Amino acid sequence: MRLAVLFSALLFAALLPFPEPTAATATQPRAGYTGDAACTSCHSEQALSYVHTMHHLTSQMPDAKSILGSLAAGKNVLKIAEPAPIIDDPGISYRMEKRSDGYYVNALTGFTGKMQSHAERIDVVIGSGHRGQTYLYWKGDALYELPVSYWTDGHQWINSPGYRNGPPYFDRPASPRCMECHAGFIQPLSADPANNHYDKSTLQVGIGCETCHGPGARHAAIHQSGAAKPVDEAILNPAHFSRDRQVDLCALCHNGAQQTLTGKAFAYVPGQPLDEYLGANPAEEDVQPDVHANQVALLKKSRCYLSSPDMSCSTCHNVHAEEKPAASYSSRCLGCHKVESCGMSKTMGPKIAGNCIDCHMPIQRTSAIVSQTADRVIRTTMRTHWIKVYPQDDLLPSP
Ligand code: HEC
Ligand code: HEC
Ligand code: HEC
Ligand code: HEC
Ligand code: HEC
Ligand code: HEC
Ligand code: HEC
Repeated sequence: MRLAVLFSALLFAALLPFPEPTAATATQPRAGYTGDAACTSCHSEQALSYVHTMHHLTSQMPDAKSILGSLAAGKNVLKIAEPAPIIDDPGISYRMEKRSDGYYVNALTGFTGKMQSHAERIDVVIGSGHRGQTYLYWKGDALYELPVSYWTDGHQWINSPGYRNGPPYFDRPASPRCMECHAGFIQPLSADPANNHYDKSTLQVGIGCETCHGPGARHAAIHQSGAAKPVDEAILNPAHFSRDRQVDLCALCHNGAQQTLTGKAFAYVPGQPLDEYLGANPAEEDVQPDVHANQVALLKKSRCYLSSPDMSCSTCHNVHAEEKPAASYSSRCLGCHKVESCGMSKTMGPKIAGNCIDCHMPIQRTSAIVSQTADRVIRTTMRTHWIKVYPQDDLLPSP
């Protein structure tokens, strides 16, 4: 009898050569996840370049380096209402200040001598600063957007997208969906998609390896223990997904910012159909790109994509490394096309080989307003992912 128990225990152990999935810990609130640091030791090729990408930098803790707006005297003020032509009205302004316990956005209103001020601390920085940054602050366990953002073009402070000049407003919630697209993880305190209450201690800034590869604790443990198998089912490699599922992974965040969650945030598992996770995208006419483009829907309209069953975002992008200059992607076009298939090659000659992008994926002006600040309206430009022939007259040059 004892022998049988021992035997079955041995058999059981033989069937289970891998360490058990790790439980949630204080630093890893999600069971099975381990964090980027664990991946670095074995995958330095991906990990060392990844830290310079916009994915990694898209949310950060506030410090002198991550906050790109100027805090220098004179440059740290955003005036959103000019003084009225009555005595003693200084107008309304925001002053960005460094204090002993952090960086603050301080709204100043009222009358000279009777100024009112409302200051909130920058607690999370959203945006690598490619186009701009928005800042969030904590009120208890609730997360809100600050009314001031930073716009890289012109190195200036602006009203946050959607904010108008007027009385200072600090009450716009930062939703779980917003966090899902811009952070590694944060635990919402309710399943309501509009909820902005979180377990603060669980915030992981920066999109992480496991956002795209799924939970990696077991994979890391297997390889540390030396029990690795050639085919490792403990980690997801998107290269092994069908084309549709590969593009779904990117579409989690690159299909415009209008889709709503059908369930909990941070629950999407790479490789699963995305349409079970997100509601339908609103009609195209309603979707105006502001800082949020829709690379997935646009690429899907392209004949390149429709006629090439294997084409995906990875045909051109390596998300583990920094973005390259636009023209350099021409080599990707030439993986499928010949220079001669472009009618322009006759007139342009060999130099066409280095620049397919500006003509076939041109930068376009968007009509959506990013910000209205004092008398200025800020719009942005976006490179389209609809690859086709464009009228040559209205092409914008690359920056
Ligand atoms: C102790 C070393 C070790 C750690 C830690 C580790 N890996 Fe791996 N990983 C490997 C080895 C070895 C392979 C197989 C050979 C290869 O593809 O480099 C592998 C393969 C992979 C693959 C390809 C799998 C496939 O089926 O094609 C991915 C993706 C991956 N690792 C991601 C991660 C991520 C994400 C982390 C962190 C959560 C991580 N790894 C942590 C050693 C490690
Ligand atoms: C969890 C959300 C998320 C997922 C999933 C995601 N992205 Fe992104 N991606 C972002 C955000 C946010 C930015 C912009 C970051 C910024 O500038 O602050 C970005 C930026 C980029 C950029 C431009 C910057 C750079 O570093 O090259 C490319 C290209 C890109 N993503 C491609 C992809 C591809 C391809 C996939 C699928 C394999 C993907 N992304 C999956 C959120 C995501
Ligand atoms: C569906 C995913 C998604 C949601 C939701 C979303 N974003 Fe983004 N955001 C992105 C992606 C992807 C980019 C990169 C630009 C692009 O679309 O090409 C981006 C760009 C930005 C940028 C500019 C970053 C840069 O470096 O230029 C800021 C700032 C930003 N988002 C803030 C927010 C805030 C604040 C929220 C929530 C209130 C939010 N976003 C909601 C995906 C999202
Ligand atoms: C935005 C999504 C995304 C993020 C974040 C990401 N990866 Fe990947 N990773 C991919 C995709 C997509 C592939 C498959 C590329 C292909 O099709 O060749 C991949 C492939 C890999 C592979 C397999 C080897 C290879 O090059 O094909 C390894 C190893 C890997 N990733 C490690 C990491 C590590 C480590 C991190 C974090 C430092 C990370 N990845 C972050 C999307 C991502
Ligand atoms: C994975 C292969 C692949 C890649 C990569 C690719 N294409 Fe294509 N492309 C195709 C196929 C296939 C067609 C359709 C040909 C047909 O139907 O006759 C096409 C069609 C086109 C067309 C005609 C579009 C139309 O609406 O009439 C243009 C222009 C074009 N490609 C340019 C490019 C450029 C520029 C790039 C790089 C940015 C590129 N392609 C990348 C495969 C590809
Ligand atoms: C045929 C090649 C090609 C394919 C396929 C492709 N891209 Fe791109 N992508 C580009 C080029 C070229 C740029 C411009 C790079 C630059 O400006 O430096 C770019 C830029 C981007 C950017 C930065 C946009 C910005 O305005 O800052 C994002 C995000 C992005 N791609 C996401 C995706 C996603 C998601 C997919 C899959 C749906 C995808 N791309 C497929 C060629 C491609
Ligand atoms: C100066 C702008 C310009 C550049 C650069 C350019 N193209 Fe074109 N391309 C055009 C125009 C305009 C047409 C349509 C008229 C024609 O074919 O003469 C076209 C046609 C095409 C077509 C055929 C579309 C069809 O009718 O089926 C393909 C494929 C194509 N280009 C690919 C490329 C590739 C690949 C490159 C880079 C090696 C490139 N083009 C560079 C402007 C350009």
